[in-house]
Amino acid sequence: MCGIIGYAGETSAVPILLDGLEALEYRGYDSAGVAVVSPDGKLQFSKSKGRLKVLREHLANQEPLVGNIGIGHTRWATHGEPNDVNSHPHIGNKNKIAVVHNGIIENYMEIRAYLEKKGVEFVSETDTEVIAQLIEYYYFKDYDLLGSVYKTLHRLRGAYAIGVLCADYPGRMIAARKDAPLLIGYGDKCNFIASDVTALLKHTRTVSYMNDDEVAVITPYKITFFDGDRGVIEKEKTEVEWDVSSAEKGGYAHFMLKEIMEQPEAVRKTISPRIKDNRIFFEELAGKEELLKGINKIYMIACGSAYHVGMVGKYIIEKLARIPVEAALASEFRYASPLVDEHTLIIVISQSGETLDSMAALREAKRLGARVLSIVNVIGSSIARESDEVIYTMAGPEIAVATTKAYNTQLIILTMFGYYLADLIGAVSKEEYDEFLSELGKLPEQMQKLLDSADVCQQAASKYFNRNSVFFIGRNLDYALCLEGSLKLKEISYIHSESYAAGELKHGTISLIEPGTLVVAMTTYAPLLEKTVSNIVEVQSRGAEVISVVSESDKDKMNTSYENTFVVPDSHPFLKPNLSVIPLQLFAYYVALNRGCDIDKPRNLAKSVTVE
Ligand code: M6R
Repeated sequence: MCGIIGYAGETSAVPILLDGLEALEYRGYDSAGVAVVSPDGKLQFSKSKGRLKVLREHLANQEPLVGNIGIGHTRWATHGEPNDVNSHPHIGNKNKIAVVHNGIIENYMEIRAYLEKKGVEFVSETDTEVIAQLIEYYYFKDYDLLGSVYKTLHRLRGAYAIGVLCADYPGRMIAARKDAPLLIGYGDKCNFIASDVTALLKHTRTVSYMNDDEVAVITPYKITFFDGDRGVIEKEKTEVEWDVSSAEKGGYAHFMLKEIMEQPEAVRKTISPRIKDNRIFFEELAGKEELLKGINKIYMIACGSAYHVGMVGKYIIEKLARIPVEAALASEFRYASPLVDEHTLIIVISQSGETLDSMAALREAKRLGARVLSIVNVIGSSIARESDEVIYTMAGPEIAVATTKAYNTQLIILTMFGYYLADLIGAVSKEEYDEFLSELGKLPEQMQKLLDSADVCQQAASKYFNRNSVFFIGRNLDYALCLEGSLKLKEISYIHSESYAAGELKHGTISLIEPGTLVVAMTTYAPLLEKTVSNIVEVQSRGAEVISVVSESDKDKMNTSYENTFVVPDSHPFLKPNLSVIPLQLFAYYVALNRGCDIDKPRNLAKSVTVE
């Protein structure tokens, strides 16, 4: 959730840390801070509530922080409100140790009580402060910094990625992780730690991903990795493919708009390596055919928008492969005594690959004997590394908190996987398969066509941006799309919104419809179009204003005005979700823009959710 950056090099640390925090701010943005150690062993820090720009102002108005080694943090508050004191880095009582932390320490109260009895005075309400105070407490016993870090880690329960500085070591920084992402970047006469590779792209694309219980000692010229027992280990280096420009706004007002516009390219990149000789081919699954043929149940496990992708996947894969598919919220799956065995395939869907709920569900599924295939965007992320098989979406870095291009690439992977599996078990005819492939080839272009007519969504948004409540209704695949359209809208515009299976409305919710209520009706799923049209008429007769999303060839069947009709190109029914989500994303974006919302960083949210 929070963002961590650390630098050890030959130049001033603060500008590099601030630059890294800028790239990480999407992970948490209620406060920020930095700490550096000067060559003569002075620990200095600055931290403040609010966005990074507030920290920049603080730094500009105080004595410069001097030093070529430092750590920085952007916070998404868990323990203690966002304020200056609760911001990271946290500093030991004797000003010797500074710590930045991402994760939650579950037994912090117990450690705090222990240290208070020893005379340590706590200043913040955070769980993190115990890490700084405990390392410092141990350090003053034998001046063994690495040993103090290990002793501390052995006492912690919970999740952590940490960066540690000690005033006595002006050229050294220590990093450690358990259940929270952390990677090491290799620069030229400098090295880095970061919770996310986007923070490092300006400096290096050569990284090592830390595993649970590992510890690293970082200097400008050397990195030494240790396992949980303090034994030295070798780590593999990985070259990251993303470039700096992919994590920059590139002239767009918001990352969200840029990422919406990048969808045709992201989908093209995701599809093309998986088509060979006019067949769908997943290199990642080569040799696993017999295992896949033995599957008798599939669980899609994910959170938020990724869960909505799972809902689409359920409809498509059940229909194609005739295998029962359940879409489960990761946070529920883990505690629901799921019926899982070695014939169950678990598909974990995650953009970040770091979502803790999804990670915990993955581990539970593995413990129960299931095989885990994950669909992940961030290469080398924790979920990717713990899965049996991984299929990467090729969306590139997604910075806006509201997911758009990652959602679309996850959708296309699942739909292609549905055909791949159905073909493997002989559940799909050659004609149907070929027809799908021919429509698949047209998808990126059709997406582009839709994006080129964004003004229809923009105009509708200027008409409806001040509504207090919006309903999304649809059936079957369209219902799964409603879940996403509604989440997108409320997440960034703060308008209350509900998504309903259109046929369910009359079982209670229709009582909320009154003159002026806005209803967005999804009618792209042709077999149920007429039924949804009846539901539209029902809400219209109660005074609702309706926007419909409809396929080109059905647009004349709609009883909504031209300006209230978002038309999507005709396509294969299972490719419609990739298209019909686009007007929903654009509508949400322009509504939020009209309302003056902070689109890329909506209140209370963060991009990567690494707490339960
Ligand atoms: O990184 P993940 O895909 O695992 O994230 C899951 C959800 O937190 C995420 O999709 C969230 O719902 C988005 N902010 C929605 O736009």
